[in-house]
Amino acid sequence: MNIDTASYPSPREATGEPSRLLLQDTFGRVARDLRVSLTDKCNLRCTYCMPAEGLNWLAQEKTLSDEEVCRLLRIAVERLGIRHLRFTGGEPLLRRSLPEIIAFASSLRTDEGRAPRTALTTNGLGLDKRAAELVDAGLDRVNISLDSLDRHRYHVLSRRDRLDDVLASIDAALQAGLSPVKINTVVMPGSNEQDILPLAHFALRTGAQLRFIEQMPLGPPEQWDRNIMITARDIVETLAKDFELSPSSTPRGSAPAELWTAVERDHPHHSGEIGVIAAVTHPFCGDCDRSRLTADGFMRNCLFSRSETDLRSLLRSGASDEEIMAAWAQGMAEKKAGHGIDDRSFIQPQRLMSEIGG
Ligand code: 5AD
Ligand code: SF4
Repeated sequence: MNIDTASYPSPREATGEPSRLLLQDTFGRVARDLRVSLTDKCNLRCTYCMPAEGLNWLAQEKTLSDEEVCRLLRIAVERLGIRHLRFTGGEPLLRRSLPEIIAFASSLRTDEGRAPRTALTTNGLGLDKRAAELVDAGLDRVNISLDSLDRHRYHVLSRRDRLDDVLASIDAALQAGLSPVKINTVVMPGSNEQDILPLAHFALRTGAQLRFIEQMPLGPPEQWDRNIMITARDIVETLAKDFELSPSSTPRGSAPAELWTAVERDHPHHSGEIGVIAAVTHPFCGDCDRSRLTADGFMRNCLFSRSETDLRSLLRSGASDEEIMAAWAQGMAEKKAGHGIDDRSFIQPQRLMSEIGG
């Protein structure tokens, strides 16, 4: 399938110099990274994310079309200073036109004159068969969710017996030259704590970069309890049992993970970097450079924001690029200093992670 973007001439081809805006907020942060949710649907039901029966999926007509997604991508990259694009979901591999969307994204040029860096956050189901095609389309990197190496626990956590598919995908992603291949592990109390060490050994041996993530209140409310959650500190203490850990010298920048250089105590030739994302206990909001687009065309300035900017209505009512840019920039200007999960006044956003895009 080809995406018809001819009706949206690139500003480089239009006459005259197009205007540009930066997505800047009142705290001086500039958004350079756009997370684009391409569908709210998923073929797993991870307990920290969704109820067993799934959610009320968005109606087709509410979801942005390929042309609408591509128009917003072009505005974001060529006129609003976005340099990194990450495609998410739900499960982005369920969007059939994913390779075409990635190819279109790769044809854009940032304000630095380069193609934007493109990434995918996926549960890995089916990636083994599609990794090469996505690399050909221009995909640079991938994050694959893997919360357990134990088949039974993986099944219980994701409510599907698909561990082998994910392992095949990690292999295929490494083979296809995606770099880096990151593994995301959400650690939940009473669920997969015993997987921390096996996953760390696995990652160092395969060459994937593992990042443990503190569970955030973005799924079914009864699944998150601040009092018993596994913290970054707990994770590092567990890792220290089998690994010599030292803070990594890789600069962190706006990346959320605190990186550790880990050396296996019993096999010192096995070493590598392991990340721990303290999303709750040490928020990194001060360095956040993200803007988010939901599958139904709403811009969110934060995972946890209480308000959204309706870009879909603008797209569908014939708004100009400049009007969309102004609304987007205004929505980002209103970004709050932080998510305040640890504050008493914290209220969980109405939309869940799979609807917002991770
Ligand atoms: N807390 C932390 N991380 C989450 N993810 C999904 N839901 C949550 C949550 N409640 C992560 C998963 C997945 C990515 C989309 O976001 O690890 O890889
Ligand atoms: Fe699907 Fe990702 Fe949610 Fe798991 S965390 S159910 S893989 S969207």
